[in-house]
Amino acid sequence: MSISNSIFLKACVREPVSRAPVWYMRQAGRYDADYREIRKQYSLVEICQRPQICADVTRMPVEKLGVDAAILFSDIMIPIGAMGLDFEIKENIGPVIETPIRSKEDVNRLRLFEPGQDLWYVLETIERLRHQLHVPLIGFTGAPFTLASYMIEGGPSREYIETKRLMYSQPDVWKMLMDKLGEMIILYGKAQVKAGAQALQLFDSWVGSLSPDAYETYVYPTMKHIFDELRPLGVPLILFGVTTGELLTQFQHAGASVIGVDWRVPIRRARERLGTKIALQGNLDPALLQAPWNVLEAETRKLLEEGLRHPGYIFNLGHGVRPSVDIQILKRLTEFVHTYSEEWLAQ
Ligand code: CP3
Repeated sequence: MSISNSIFLKACVREPVSRAPVWYMRQAGRYDADYREIRKQYSLVEICQRPQICADVTRMPVEKLGVDAAILFSDIMIPIGAMGLDFEIKENIGPVIETPIRSKEDVNRLRLFEPGQDLWYVLETIERLRHQLHVPLIGFTGAPFTLASYMIEGGPSREYIETKRLMYSQPDVWKMLMDKLGEMIILYGKAQVKAGAQALQLFDSWVGSLSPDAYETYVYPTMKHIFDELRPLGVPLILFGVTTGELLTQFQHAGASVIGVDWRVPIRRARERLGTKIALQGNLDPALLQAPWNVLEAETRKLLEEGLRHPGYIFNLGHGVRPSVDIQILKRLTEFVHTYSEEWLAQ
């Protein structure tokens, strides 16, 4: 799979395409009965640790939905386990850590692992997929703030009080943690690309809980360093977070080449803020997947007409597919995006 035959890779570098590329965050998951069947036998982590099963699960949405990119099946917590922090993924809750990080000693105990040794199964999955896929493979990692939020809170959070307490009251410890996570992400991102990932998405899902000033002081320097180190790999670097409308220009300055936008920011507004020299990805409200088809279709049409106004647009949701979504709707939506964008671009 080279850029010349991938509309996804072309859109990432703002080259013209004949139709809008589509993929969905959480495109492999519980809305799919075959996935649920596999989950009866294996936990999420067990799937991640078995390259053949993991590759099969990664390919499922490509084969069933006809999306234009695959995203590695894994979780943002996998490298956290390799750093020596035990976690569990609890059904309908998310990642839970029994012994969260609260002190300098806790941060010092985290180790920088060797991806080829400690996460060999991720790299082997990527290598296998590169031989199996006819669309590009997106590798991913969590970004430092979002990873730190799970490590410090010990689980999902609404207000990130403990995370912000550490950030504001022990800025030196916070900086050590950001630096360590930054180095891990650089190592892990490089290893994924070396194994065959053709783009990397950094999920900073929860960083929208920070003000732009706090982002600038406590997160931006690490993000800039990560992008400076990953840029020479020459693959698109996508940065996504929820409720990050006020942070989009900082995402751009940090060095992302594609920005994932959630549904709270109209694409037209994101364009006003970011200009036309960056690719955008998003941002249909995932709840629309459960609206009547005519409503979903009308909103999709509107989104495409805004997104396609400039080269460098990738259709996606504003966040992940919910488990209650009907797979047939996702399939129909993918086909609709392809046909409607093709007509619109041919005008
Ligand atoms: O298809 C894909 O998108 C690739 C696989 C993927 C998973 N997690 C598998 C998964 C990706 C890219 C992730 C990233 C991830 N994990 C993020 C960033 C994206 C986002 O949603 O904001 C975050 C915050 C996590 C942490 C996490 N892991 C959460 C919040 C949950 C959901 C808890 C629940 O049960 O609703 C998980 C579990 C998880 N990771 C599932 C999947 C398919 C669902 C549960 C399962 O199958 O056991």
